[in-house]
Amino acid sequence: MTDAPLLTPRQIAIVRQVFGTDIRLDGDNVFIAGRRCPIRDGVIVLDGTVAEVDAEKAEVIRSFGEEWGSFPAMAPEHQREFDGYFDLVDVAGLEGKTVADLGCGMGRWSRILLERTTPRFLVCADLSDAIFVARRNLAEHPNVLFIKADLETLRFDGFRFDFAFSLGVLHHIPGGIAVALAQIASYAESFLGYLYYALDNRGTVFAVLFRAADLLRRALARIRTEPVRRAVSWLIALVLYKPFVLAADIAGALGVDKDRMPLNAYCGNSLRRIQQDAYDRFFTTVEYRYTRSDITAHCTRHWHEVTFSDRQPYWHFLCRGPRR
Ligand SMILES: C[S@@+](CC[C@H](N)C(=O)[O-])C[C@H]1O[C@@H](n2cnc3c(N)ncnc32)[C@H](O)[C@@H]1O
Repeated sequence: MTDAPLLTPRQIAIVRQVFGTDIRLDGDNVFIAGRRCPIRDGVIVLDGTVAEVDAEKAEVIRSFGEEWGSFPAMAPEHQREFDGYFDLVDVAGLEGKTVADLGCGMGRWSRILLERTTPRFLVCADLSDAIFVARRNLAEHPNVLFIKADLETLRFDGFRFDFAFSLGVLHHIPGGIAVALAQIASYAESFLGYLYYALDNRGTVFAVLFRAADLLRRALARIRTEPVRRAVSWLIALVLYKPFVLAADIAGALGVDKDRMPLNAYCGNSLRRIQQDAYDRFFTTVEYRYTRSDITAHCTRHWHEVTFSDRQPYWHFLCRGPRR
């Protein structure tokens, strides 16, 4: 059973702001512009299931729902990772602004954002059951609205967020980023994205390792049993990731530039944290990779300015100045 089945008055006020005034509450449902959306466990369900025709997307979403159900907890490393993702953003400056976390997963970045600043409100959206994990992880924050929705169709009909972010999401959409990005551009004044890079700033060693890892991913993603996935991801973390992390640590100690070492970003991370990323990396059936120029071409259709961070994770970038 649920512990917070309906919306709070504050959340209803947020719904009215983002979806317009044509809102009606009726029992466990909210009607948005005449469309009935169930409220489940404090989450507005705009998109309950993925259409059967979209089997690829359905599998991605099923898999992420399970992943975040298995890894729902915050980790100490997340604070440092947040700094990495948000290095282009004036986080304190988001005070009083409207913010959206698109493809929020279990809500880790929103949680840290809310520790560091006080937006006017925050909307978290995800198509998988991870949105229910996010709702639990952010339960003490009254200013957050949770929506189960597909980023390829989600729209806000006139409302524009001051800032939206989508970290590690759009590269998992079958068919690519174009449709979701156009939707996001219709309601985000500025946008922080993170998309898997196509190793365009790396050499042959990374390319070879990537080929091998990708073959392994294609084979392992066929495993559907959750406990087996958890066990395999732990094994990968221990046997594949840890030796590289150790090598990067040693290289760092010897004064070599760590950034040139594969998997150096995991230095200092717990095995559990690496396991979660290994799960994410090896059990997701759809992943695209983008060069810096691919991303620039996509984003400059919608925003005037795209700024890339030169720091890991690659590529994360900030889009500003929407084209209208
Ligand atoms: C790798 S996880 C990242 C989650 C979160 N941004 C983070 O970094 O912790 C990708 C998330 O995107 C969500 N997602 C994938 N495709 C989506 C879509 N079409 N619409 C909404 N969410 C989607 C998944 O359910 C999953 O929670």
